[in-house]
Formats: sequence, structure tokens, C-alpha cells
Amino acid sequence: MADIRVLPSRTAYSMPGELGARIVGGDGHYLLDSDGTRYLDASCGSGSLIFGHGDKEIIDALYAQSRKLTLFPSRHFSSEIVERYAGRLLDFGPPGMSRAITFSSGSDAVEASLKLAIQHHFAAERPQRRKILGRNASYHGNTIAGLSAGGFVARRKPYESVLAPCAKASHAHCVACEFGVQAETCGVQCAQSIEDAILEEGPENVAAVIVEPIVGAALSAGPPDPRYLPRISEICRQYDILLILDEVMTCFARTGTPFACMHWNVEPDIVVCGKAISAGYYPLSAILVNDRVVRGPLARDKYFQNGQTFACSPAGAAVGLAVLDRLADGSVAANVARMGELLRASLRKELPSVLVDRVRGMGLMVGFDIGNRFKSSRTPSSDGFGDRFQRAALKRGLVIYASSGGAERETGDHAMLLLPLTISEREVQEATACLVAAANDLLETESKARP
Ligand SMILES: Cc1ncc(COP(=O)(O)O)c(C=O)c1O
Repeated sequence: MADIRVLPSRTAYSMPGELGARIVGGDGHYLLDSDGTRYLDASCGSGSLIFGHGDKEIIDALYAQSRKLTLFPSRHFSSEIVERYAGRLLDFGPPGMSRAITFSSGSDAVEASLKLAIQHHFAAERPQRRKILGRNASYHGNTIAGLSAGGFVARRKPYESVLAPCAKASHAHCVACEFGVQAETCGVQCAQSIEDAILEEGPENVAAVIVEPIVGAALSAGPPDPRYLPRISEICRQYDILLILDEVMTCFARTGTPFACMHWNVEPDIVVCGKAISAGYYPLSAILVNDRVVRGPLARDKYFQNGQTFACSPAGAAVGLAVLDRLADGSVAANVARMGELLRASLRKELPSVLVDRVRGMGLMVGFDIGNRFKSSRTPSSDGFGDRFQRAALKRGLVIYASSGGAERETGDHAMLLLPLTISEREVQEATACLVAAANDLLETESKARP
């Protein structure tokens, strides 16, 4: 069992002391610490490192491009590699997209998508259409605008006083349905709640609705009812409101298709991508914009007012192209589908259900709830089981992505396994065995702590 040492850290704002082991390297699907302990990395740079650590092809692509040209002011120039990458990205994306702009983090791509929606209506001389509609228990990054549009309660809390007012519809996480309905009686009330919120705000005031197709950090991999996204897409079209899909966590085959919205044949107005877009080797993100928006009011000689230093970077494009090359033959996506099924089945079978329940997800975006049965009530939402389980897993050599405080009620501690998409069957078994051992360790500690 790994001995997790508490080390002093100058980055302690973002690192709880208990997790302060020094990481000295990455080796394929594993992280190595300074004591020589290997951790299977099921956090994967929060879902970015889809091919694992030390990927030679991608590193070589970055090195080769960096020697030629790393950056230029995208306000004045473009370049062959940047244009080629945009074309490949658009081909890879959902149908209908005709512009791609790259940035450097999921948060700033979300921000750009919101600004583009507002500028779209501004250019159409509808400046009052500036409200953004979000959903409870959702995460759209850590900028003020992203937090405002999101509904991750704990992450918003210190900043509530400065966040922009954004109305929130219900989330669509079926296992903790906000309407308390079962699958048999579901009338997709969560989709109706989007229309209700639009009507409440006044459709003439709403610029965009932003949605994670499958919620990540706030609810740990909660897929919606299959009718949900097609229905909200219709609602947005009906009221001339842009539908922004935040696919920062779900893009690039994480759920088995290039983008999660492709499971439901939805054509959003703007798609936001990040994380896996560079497999973790370059701070890269992008927005893809639907042709109906590109040809819309902004086309009339208006400039998208959102320049950024690292936008349209050639170095990022080289990394992005290398990632797309690896995904091109579909074998990675096929592995995702197979390993995702296997992982969910083995977690359901082997984890003690008294501690872990509601295993869910799509592809290799796999989530579960922790400690529900120990809680006297669902409010407040977290009893700290997520943190304790994460630490127990680390001691057993597995890094997971635990989370809590995403919602006010109904959901508490939960975690995701975001394994590399190239994971093998043996490693899936290893991840399951580590989690089972961690769960048993935690159950033992809990039983000692409870009279
Ligand atoms: C759905 C979603 N949107 C936006 C972001 C923000 O991305 P970044 O951390 O790269 O700024 C994240 C990050 O976890 C995310 O999961």
C-alpha cells in the first residue's frame, strides 16, 4: 500500500496536504511518485491524457512544430498548419460546423462561446438578448462567466456576490432526477424545464442555453434520457436561442463517439471542446461554430471581439493534428466502447454496494455515488466520502476524480474514473481491484469510527 506523505507545498491553494506526494514522472497509463510508487491514472489530467503519459508521437509533433513556428498574432495572420487543423477539427466534429477557433483552456473556450452568442444577437440588433441560461449541477469552467452559467454550488460559493445572474433549469441526470420520476413515467420534464426557464426570462432576452451533454464534475457522468438533447435543441431553434454544448470533458471519443452529442444526432450552434483535444500535451481548447451562425448576422463585416494571445496557435495545431491522426481509424473509439462496458460491469459486480452505488456513464466516462447509505439525509449533500474514498484509492495505487458539492440536494459525494482511452483489459481489472481494496479499507475505517 502506498505511503502518502504530507509534503510542504508552495502551490497549496490547489493541493490538499494529504495528496501532497511528489509526482516525478508519467509512464504510459501510470504516474510515478518520488518514492517509486506507481499509480494507475484514472484521473488522467481531469480527462485530458487520453493516450497516457510520455506519448512519443505527440511530443515529436510538438517539438517539430515548435522549431518552425510556435505563435503569431492571429488577428493579422493565419498559417497553413492552423488552417489545416481547423479543417480536420471541423470534419471530426458534429455535422454542420464551419468555423473552428482554438484557445488555451476549456474555461476560456466556454467564455468565448458565451461571448460569441451575445455578439451574434448584438450584430442582429437585438442587444437585449444577452441572458445566458444554464442548469443546476453543471460545470462550465472557473472564470466568472463560466461559474455564472454553471451550477456547481461549492465552486460558485465564494464568488456568489460577483457572479452574473443566470437563470437555471433542471439538470438531466436521470439517477438523481430532480422531478423524482422513474424511467417508466419519465416525460423528460427536465427538457420542459428549459422551455419554462426561457419563458420565465422572456425569449426575447435570452441569447443562449449552455449544457454539458453528460455532466462531468458536478454529477460524475450522468447521461440524460435519449430524448433530452434532441428536445432542447428543438426548443432553442423555436425561440431563436443558440444552443451551446460544453463538450470540454466529453469530446474526442471519451464517450465512444467523437463528440457526445453525436450519440443523439444533435447539431448544436456552438460546441466547446478542451482537455482531450490535445491529449494533455498542450494547453488547447476550441469552439466549433455551426454554419447557420457563421452565415448569420455576424457575417456582415463584424469581427468576433475576442482576441487572445494563444488563440490559433500553430504549436497547438500540430499537437491537435497528431491527436486526430491517432483517432482517425476508429480503433480507439472501439476500445472505449468495449472497456467502458467492461469497467461498468466489473464495478457493479465487485464493489460493495453498501459504499458505492449507481454506477453509470458512457464509454470511458464512468461515475458512481459514494456513501449514500451511510447518510442520514441527502441534505447537506456531502459527508466527505468522496475525499476519503479518493485518499483510500491513492493508497491502493489508483488516482480517481472524486467530487462533491456539485448540487444543493439529491446528489452528494461521487467520483469518476476517466481512464486513458487506450486502457487495456488487464488495467481495467487492476483499476477495479484497487477500488475494491480501497472501498474495503474505507468500510473498515468507517465501521471503527461509527459506534
Ligand atoms: C464541462 C467542462 N467545461 C469547462 C471546463 C473548464 O476547463 P478548463 O479546466 O480547461 O478551464 C471543464 C473542466 O473540467 C469541464 O469539465
